[in-house]
Amino acid sequence: MTVRASAKIYVTRPLPEEALSLLRRCGEMSLWEKDEVIPRDVLLREVRETEALLCMVTEQIDAELLAHAPRLRIVANMAVGYDNVDVPALTRRGILLTNTPGVLTETTADLTFALILAIARRVAEAERFVRAGHWRSWGPLFFVGHDVHHATVGIIGLGRIGMEVAKRAKGFDMRILYTGRTRKREAEEALGCIPVDLATLLRESDFVTVHVPLTSDTHHLLSTPQFRLMKRTAFLINVARGPIVDQRGLYAALRDGLIAGAALDVTDPEPIPLADPLLSLNNCLILPHIGSASIITRTRMATLAAENIVAFLAGRRPPTPVNPEVLEK
Ligand code: NAP
Ligand code: GLV
Repeated sequence: MTVRASAKIYVTRPLPEEALSLLRRCGEMSLWEKDEVIPRDVLLREVRETEALLCMVTEQIDAELLAHAPRLRIVANMAVGYDNVDVPALTRRGILLTNTPGVLTETTADLTFALILAIARRVAEAERFVRAGHWRSWGPLFFVGHDVHHATVGIIGLGRIGMEVAKRAKGFDMRILYTGRTRKREAEEALGCIPVDLATLLRESDFVTVHVPLTSDTHHLLSTPQFRLMKRTAFLINVARGPIVDQRGLYAALRDGLIAGAALDVTDPEPIPLADPLLSLNNCLILPHIGSASIITRTRMATLAAENIVAFLAGRRPPTPVNPEVLEK
């Protein structure tokens, strides 16, 4: 496969200069300069001549887009998750997909722990209370929450991020359960993680935290039957993808006290509509998908996405391919 020396590269969002300068050096780069999602019609127009596309999770890379992109050879998704991409369709067309694993792992685990602490200790609720001018005095039963230390955490998907959450949980002297597709002997030995099936994890955990990718297998993995298994004092944390949790079922579970609370960095859809009933609940904390949002990590993600394109255009193996079989052809 040959790519022209002045390959056309399109970037769907303003990025740190480190990443953009890498791209400028290896092709004819242009970008959507507004810090907002690129309108679909603009994207479909821009990809007509594009050979390398650096995109975000906010772009659907699907059959419609591919039909508008006859010259496309590589899609570099600036995210570790790639449920926004139709990977089989790309592979059929011989288009490489890359993602950004690893560089965001610890930052996302940090945010997971921020959510665990915030929902257990009612941080957002208490902060709203202060700002609303309701704070009159200290009280013995005032904003009492739940302890995180020595509680049981259940990690669904002990991959890169799940593992970093486990390390943080160990620091809080937590009992750590996990469930997933494969046994993680290292985590069992080093951190005392205990493998269990999903039902056991749901029954025994004080904090259930989700770290699997969104696939057809994990869509609505957590719905009413699963919430019914959880303790009434338990909390659900989702820093993975919104559709892994059945949000209507979650609303009913929170409203009816099946579980104590939920903290979500991701929703279905995103942004969550202001009329969504979850936003009316004090025991639900919602963030706008900021798991990996530290300056250093976002710069690393952008740079890694750019490096994938640079390597590909130079005929080298990109560092983090998702469908490497395309390279073998
Ligand atoms: P990872 O290292 O691939 O870990 C995913 C884990 O999920 C693996 O342990 C995998 O099992 C397990 N898994 C996959 N499919 C499963 C299934 N059907 N049932 C049970 N377990 C399953 O990925 P990661 O880097 O930790 O990222 C995980 C996800 O977090 C991403 O896909 C992304 O959606 C999300 N994320 C969100 C943010 C954010 O800003 N909120 C930031 C980063 C990532 P095996 O070990 O057997 O493969
Ligand atoms: C962010 O959501 C990612 O998957 O990197």
